[in-house]
Amino acid sequence: MDNQAIKSMNLYSQVERIYSDLRAMGIADDAPLDVETLTPFDQYHYFGTDAVDEAIAMTGITAGSTVLDVGSGLGGPARYLAKATGCKVTALELQEDLNEVAAKLTDRCGLSGNIDHVCADVLAWQAPAESHDQLMSYLALYHIDDPTTLFATCATALKPGGRIYIEDLYGLGEFTDEEQRHLRHMLYGQNMASRTQYILDLQNAGFTDIAFTDMTGPWTGFCRERLEAYRAGRERQEAVHGRQVVEALDEFYATVLGLFEGGNMGGVRVTATKA
Ligand SMILES: C[S@@+](CC[C@H](N)C(=O)[O-])C[C@H]1O[C@@H](n2cnc3c(N)ncnc32)[C@H](O)[C@@H]1O
Repeated sequence: MDNQAIKSMNLYSQVERIYSDLRAMGIADDAPLDVETLTPFDQYHYFGTDAVDEAIAMTGITAGSTVLDVGSGLGGPARYLAKATGCKVTALELQEDLNEVAAKLTDRCGLSGNIDHVCADVLAWQAPAESHDQLMSYLALYHIDDPTTLFATCATALKPGGRIYIEDLYGLGEFTDEEQRHLRHMLYGQNMASRTQYILDLQNAGFTDIAFTDMTGPWTGFCRERLEAYRAGRERQEAVHGRQVVEALDEFYATVLGLFEGGNMGGVRVTATKA
């Protein structure tokens, strides 16, 4: 996978902007942190830590669990999970800058003993066999163009009976030419499988007990409110981040909302078990 092409998605530009958010709260770059302070800024998916609570409940993560987080971003879900349960997490992230910021934030939260930040493309990663009890992944897998290798790697990394919790995007209908352009560029969408294909890909990798729950309605509402809130706070955002960053994020939030509202892009929560 081309590690730079994904930067066409504005969310991944200037990821150090989280330090500006913290400085605006009077928190210096080397000050200790707690997970709750970070959660407004470090969750790159929908419904923040509520979505991580869902993963904990639906896959049975406990203090004794070892969890693989595929596409861990700034590490927000991993840190919340580790703090909430005491489990160990392997946080696998493709982009070096995100991974570096993630590891620093984890250290400042005192959670380095729980979270191992690994910078790697999951497609090239040599998964230690049967090394994890659960797997979670938030809005990362649609970036990956080879579901066969992806789900085979996930299966390898899990112990038999291991549970997975995925939040992802998928294809509901035929994308227009303009939607395809937005998907390729602004979302860096490499795999918008249909429901049928998604389930088949998981079955072929040896997963059973597959529950595929459409989340398009609530996620569309979330994205609408996110854009409205961002625009309402624009003056403050520009003071903290500068106009360029704010315009890029506004464009990203508006494009995602337009795709959901167009009715061809869906959101999904998948749970399954490794046989
Ligand atoms: C929308 S972000 C979500 C980050 C995090 N899961 C969260 O919810 O805050 C998706 C992440 O998946 C990562 N990713 C995409 N393709 C990947 C791959 N092939 N291997 C590992 N990580 C990948 C991206 O770099 C990005 O940080």
